[in-house]
Amino acid sequence: MIAEAYRPQTSTRAAPGFPAAPEAPFSQGRVTTLSTELEHPSPIHFGHRIGPQFLTHLTRHHFDKLFFCAEEHVFRLHGQSLYDEARRHFPCHLQFLPSGEACKSFDVLADVCESFVHGNISKKSIVIALGGGVVGNLVGLAAGLTFRGVRYVEVPTTMTALTDGTLSNKQAINGRKGKNHFGLYHSPLFIWSDTAYLRTEPVESKRCGIVEGIKNGFIADADFLDYLEAELNPAQEYSGSKLTELAYRIIQSKLAILRRDPSEKHESITLEYGHTFGHALEWLAKGKLSHGAAVAIGMKLAARLGHELGLISQDLVRRHDDLIDDRLGMTAAVPASITTDALLDAMIHDNKKTSRDLRFVLLEGAGRCHNPEGDFLVTVDPAVVRRVLDTFLATRGRG
Ligand SMILES: NC(=O)c1ccc[n+]([C@@H]2O[C@H](COP(=O)([O-])OP(=O)(O)OC[C@H]3O[C@@H](n4cnc5c(N)ncnc54)[C@H](O)[C@@H]3O)[C@@H](O)[C@H]2O)c1
Repeated sequence: MIAEAYRPQTSTRAAPGFPAAPEAPFSQGRVTTLSTELEHPSPIHFGHRIGPQFLTHLTRHHFDKLFFCAEEHVFRLHGQSLYDEARRHFPCHLQFLPSGEACKSFDVLADVCESFVHGNISKKSIVIALGGGVVGNLVGLAAGLTFRGVRYVEVPTTMTALTDGTLSNKQAINGRKGKNHFGLYHSPLFIWSDTAYLRTEPVESKRCGIVEGIKNGFIADADFLDYLEAELNPAQEYSGSKLTELAYRIIQSKLAILRRDPSEKHESITLEYGHTFGHALEWLAKGKLSHGAAVAIGMKLAARLGHELGLISQDLVRRHDDLIDDRLGMTAAVPASITTDALLDAMIHDNKKTSRDLRFVLLEGAGRCHNPEGDFLVTVDPAVVRRVLDTFLATRGRG
């Protein structure tokens, strides 16, 4: 097999220039391997500036050809060196993808699948998805569909992808009526999580990833909320070691949940906290709200709904606002075009996947989800949801 011809020249020693951080468990260049803890688990090779070791890990698997997929600007920043090194040893195919959520469409999916076939992909090939959650979802789905499944490697380059998207085997594109309507479960061969890539990530995009970590604290780990309150800063300025530690702890906060529900079908539904509102907001905002901003607003709404139902205190609602607005610096407002009626409609439509009711993940305390009769998805009277939305939208969520 071609892969065996590669003789890596890499080192696991920390490279110079990285500030010593005795409290951090990660030195530059050191690879720590975790597992996604899912039913079909994948190794996560995690570290800071671990790029030189990528091919060593890749060539533990046999393959005939590599298919790199990325947005061009992200590829130039972080993929070029991996690709150039790989190309010195193996046949490689490179495909650039359009940017943004619109990329998760049937048209782009068809282009990617056809380009694989045009590039002579085989069941022995490996696809490499380098980029944020959009690229991971789209390319993961294309790999899962091509010849009913070719292997793929995820190389996440955003906080969202590194700490959230890659820790799920769910791959999907969007439909005409909503997000992630068409997809499948396909687990990567491995995940290559190098926090060095996050150094060039735009601040707002980084916030979007961290917001999911805040969510993990609210649903399952009150101690993690304390850590986030102490460590986050609204400008998202972190040293390499702090950023690595933050990413690692967000990953661990999600893995703790997946460990208890590797099929992603029971307790993992709590990871949807804020998402019933969030998905509807993101969909109706038509690009004006990122996924993370929509989830942040969605969590503030879910907290208010929980308070309205007598499940949580006003203090816990305020803790949402403090962490999201002040510590994270995520202050996006709900666009003026979005009304209570439109949101209710969109949520009912989205929920048709599971039921026709309005169902939410709700808290009953910091780090604890409400679970009446063993169901984390709680049906709520639309009149109550309407009341909460009306009050919130009166200030566009800034009140
Ligand atoms: N499967 C899952 O369970 C899961 C979980 C979370 C999110 N998602 C999906 O992920 C998507 C959101 O992911 P995202 O927030 O990464 O968005 P994204 O992939 O659109 O990336 C955000 C932006 O950052 C840019 N970018 C990426 N890496 C960069 C880098 N290192 N330096 C500079 N710029 C960089 C991209 O060009 C893009 O403009 C959504 O579609 C969401 O549904 C899926």
